[in-house]
Amino acid sequence: MIPSVLPGQPQLHYRDQALYLEDRRLSDLAREHGTPLYVYSQASMLQALAAYQRGFAGRRVQICYAMKANSSLAVLQLFAQNGCGFDIVSGGELQRVLAAGGDPAKVIFSGVGKSRAEMRQALEAGIGCFNVESEAELEVLSEVAQAMGLRAPISIRVNPNVDAKTHPYISTGLKGNKFGIAHERTLDTYRRAAQLPGLRIVGIDCHIGSQITEETPYLDAMDRLLDLVQAIEAAGIATIHHIDFGGGLGIDYNGDTPPAADALWSRLLAKLDARGYGDRLLMIEPGRSLVGNAGVCLTEVLYLKPGEQKNFCVVDAAMNDLPRPAMYQAYHAIVPLDAAAKAPEQVYDVVGPICESGDWLGKDRSLAVAAGDMLAVLSTGAYCSSMGSTYNTRARPAEVLVDGAQAHLIRAREGISDIFRCERLIPPKP
Ligand code: LLP
Repeated sequence: MIPSVLPGQPQLHYRDQALYLEDRRLSDLAREHGTPLYVYSQASMLQALAAYQRGFAGRRVQICYAMKANSSLAVLQLFAQNGCGFDIVSGGELQRVLAAGGDPAKVIFSGVGKSRAEMRQALEAGIGCFNVESEAELEVLSEVAQAMGLRAPISIRVNPNVDAKTHPYISTGLKGNKFGIAHERTLDTYRRAAQLPGLRIVGIDCHIGSQITEETPYLDAMDRLLDLVQAIEAAGIATIHHIDFGGGLGIDYNGDTPPAADALWSRLLAKLDARGYGDRLLMIEPGRSLVGNAGVCLTEVLYLKPGEQKNFCVVDAAMNDLPRPAMYQAYHAIVPLDAAAKAPEQVYDVVGPICESGDWLGKDRSLAVAAGDMLAVLSTGAYCSSMGSTYNTRARPAEVLVDGAQAHLIRAREGISDIFRCERLIPPKP
């Protein structure tokens, strides 16, 4: 039976009951590369990027892909080649950007815990901006830059105290969150930044959360941010050259209806224009909305395990490969690669082999499957592979990027010896 809804994934479709991503039959890729396997659609990523680019036509804008969503080198390469900068949160991510051919001048560095070594590394690379998240960080960054004879370009991440109405773990713009500087403290913090010799104020920044499906929190945050730009400039503290509005736009996992990127931005730009800031350089940091619906995770059914209360469908992908359900009770649709149903349809919890009750990928799913069948877990392009681990000494899956009928292996399956390469046995007793 062909599932009627494939949420959100524009390049995913059935042809003669076989599931395809772009022009590649996914069962062929599963056979060739083994499972679990991540497969991404290049066209989906570029379409998602194009929606933002359309929304910004004629504006000065820099899209900084929040690479934590999916930091595979080939994905970064694709975005770099299509004009993107990057939002990074660690020195490791900076190294990835450079390895993928990204332009360091288009890199912005977010995060509450940048180390001195990471600051030095980013200054040496010549990144575009540090998004500073605390007053203490401001002092340290100035010290580090001054010691290098430099002035670090900064913007301050404002916590606008706006409810993004999303899962509490991925809501970041409320007073109780660890992120950013409280709205009320912002003016004083800019005053302090202007006095510090190792800093150069270039912008202002906010990011209110992730998987946002409503427009209002964005519009409210924009108002609060612009109030601050006005106050900072009216007080003669600095000129705010760029306004960085963060990321957070949601995707369709299960009938979710986030605003389209171009529609959302036409409304936000109208607000910017109305308040007289339409000519400023705009920056945004989208992650999930560029890659989330471009990816699927392929997995093989190992066993069916009927039970008194529950039927379990045990698959070869697990919470280490795909942690979102275990971490956030997140919903990902699960569909067969071959829709010509051979088995009776039953309701299953789809679970992995890991020794934890939290190791599940989907609950109460109607599936017509038998052992040996292949399934696709949908909308897994963002925060799945990049959050994976090797828990239970399970090697990380391979990854393939599909471009039309072509498929490129962009990450080889990890070997078990790769996992313990850095470990050492205790030397024998003399
Ligand atoms: N900018 C900053 C400063 C961020 O912290 C984030 C995400 C983004 C941009 C990108 O947000 P996006 O456009 O992807 O929503 N692991 C969670 C999501 C964590 C988001 C962390 N920050 C999940 O799987 O839902």
